[in-house]
Amino acid sequence: MANTVSSKRGTFTNSYTVTVEHSNFDNKALEEIIRSVGDQDEQRTRAKCYRTRWDLHEVHPEVRKIGRAAMSMARKNPLAGKTSPDGTPEEIEYGIRECWGLIYSKGQETRSHSHWPSTWAFVYNVKACPRCSPLILPSNGIHPNTDISPVEGQLVLFPAWLNHEVPFQPCDHERIIVAGNLDIVWRQNWDTRTIETNLVEDI
Ligand SMILES: [Fe+2]
Ligand SMILES: [Zn+2]
Repeated sequence: MANTVSSKRGTFTNSYTVTVEHSNFDNKALEEIIRSVGDQDEQRTRAKCYRTRWDLHEVHPEVRKIGRAAMSMARKNPLAGKTSPDGTPEEIEYGIRECWGLIYSKGQETRSHSHWPSTWAFVYNVKACPRCSPLILPSNGIHPNTDISPVEGQLVLFPAWLNHEVPFQPCDHERIIVAGNLDIVWRQNWDTRTIETNLVEDI
C-alpha cells in the first residue's frame, strides 16, 4: 500500500503532519449507506452540507474498515515515541470515537473547524474528482497551506486539533466522503480514586 506524506513532518508550530494512503473500500456500498441513513445534521455544524449520524462505523462494517485502516495509519505514524516507565516502547491503542458521511453538492462547504479533543481525524474519499474542492489545512503563518485534492480511495489522516476547511464545491457532481475521529484508549494506570482526586472542582 502506497504511503505518501503530503506535508513536511516537523514540530506542531511550523508544519502539519498529514499522511495519505490509498485503499480500495467498496465505494458503491459506502455511497449507498451514506444516502440510506439520511441527513441528521440539517447544517447545524460547520459542515454546510448533508451529514449523517456520527456512529456510522457501528452501522456498516465497510465503514468500520475505514476506521480500522485509519487506526493502522496512526499506529505506523506516531507523532512521537512513547515509552512505559521502565523504558520499553509503548504501542498506542486507538478506538474509533465517531464516524460520519458527508455529501457536498455544488456550492456547499465546511468552514474552518477542528476535531479537538480527539487525537486523530481521518477523511476517506468515496466519490470525488481532482477538481472537487480540496481539504485545506490553513497556514499557521509559517508553514504554507496544506491542500489535498480528493482522489477516490484516498484516506487522509491528520492530528484532530488542526483546523481544516473545505471550500465551496465547484463541480456539478457530488463530493462524498467518510470522516471520523480516533481517540486513544488508555487501559493502564487508571485508578479511579486517583482520577477523582485529580479532578478540578467546579468553583
Ligand atoms: Fe472536520
Ligand atoms: Zn469534482
